[in-house]
Amino acid sequence: MNVVENLAELRLARSGLSLPVGFVPTMGFLHEGHLSLVRQARHDCVSVVVSIYVNPTQFGPNEDFTKYPRDLKRDLELLRSEGVDLVWTPSDKIMYPTGYQTWVVVEEVTKPLEGEIRAGHFRGVTTVVTKLFNAVQPHKAYFGQKDAQQAAVIRRMTRDLDFPIEIVVCPTMREVDGLAMSSRNIYLNPKERVAAITLSRGLFAAKEAFDAGEQVASHLRRVVLDTLATEPLVKVQYVSCAHPDTLQELKGPVKRALLSLAVTVGKTRLIDNVILS
Ligand code: PAJ
Repeated sequence: MNVVENLAELRLARSGLSLPVGFVPTMGFLHEGHLSLVRQARHDCVSVVVSIYVNPTQFGPNEDFTKYPRDLKRDLELLRSEGVDLVWTPSDKIMYPTGYQTWVVVEEVTKPLEGEIRAGHFRGVTTVVTKLFNAVQPHKAYFGQKDAQQAAVIRRMTRDLDFPIEIVVCPTMREVDGLAMSSRNIYLNPKERVAAITLSRGLFAAKEAFDAGEQVASHLRRVVLDTLATEPLVKVQYVSCAHPDTLQELKGPVKRALLSLAVTVGKTRLIDNVILS
C-alpha cells in the first residue's frame, strides 16, 4: 500500500494504477461504515484509492474541527488489511494554499436540513470533493447513505459538472443495537450512548408504519418525534420526510421518501435516516 501526501506524488502513483479506479474519500478515524465502502470499491474496481483529510472548510466556527478524532496509524493499518492500493493524506497547505479563493457551490439541494443548520458546510464538502475528484480521477466514488444529504448533493454536483465518475451510495452500517456508526459516537458518555438508541428506534418504527400502509408524511414524522421524546437527553433539531433527491418536504401521500433526523445528545450532534420505498 502506497501512502502519499503531496499532489505530485499522488498523480504519479495514480498514473501507475490498473483501471478501473475506485475512490473512497474520508476524514479518517475509520470504522466499519468506512470499511464497508472500501470493501465495495475493492469488489467493484481493480484499484482502490482512499483519502484521509479532515477538511477544515466544512466545519462551522462552533463545530468540532479541532477536537475531531484522529488516528492515522490505526487507519493505515485497517486500510492495509483491506488491500487498499493508495492512500492520500494531504495537508491543509496542499488543499488550501495561501491565497486560496475558489469554491464549488451546489444550490437548492444544499439549502434544507443540514444546510439550514450548518451554514457553509456543503460549500466545504463540495469544494473538497471536487478537488479530491480532480486529483484522483476515479471511475467510481463511494459514499455512505448515513450522510444522505451529502450523497444527494454529490450526485447532483457530479451530474451538473460532468465529472465522468459513477457515484455509488452504500447502506448505513449500524452497531448491533441500531446506532448508526459514526466517528462522532466516541464523544458519547455511557448514558448518552444509551439515549442515542432512540434515533434508529424512531426511524425503524416509522418505517414499520410506512410498510404497514401509513402514507401521511406528518404521521411518519410524528412516530419518530414521539420515540425521540421518550429520551430527555435527546434534543431534536429536525425530523424530515422529504423527496430523496431534492430533499423538499413531502406534503401529499408518501410513496418514496428520505426520513431523516438530526439531534444533539449532550454536546454531540448525531444524524440518521432511513429510506421509505
Ligand atoms: P466521513 O464522515 O469520514 O465519512 C466518509 C464516508 O463514510 C462518507 O461517504 C460517509 O457517508 C460514510 N459513512 C460514515 N458513516 C457510515 C456508516 N455508518 N455506514 C456507511 N457509510 C458511512 O463524509 C465525510 O467524511 C466528508 O464529508 C468527506 C466526504 C470525506 C469530505 O470531506
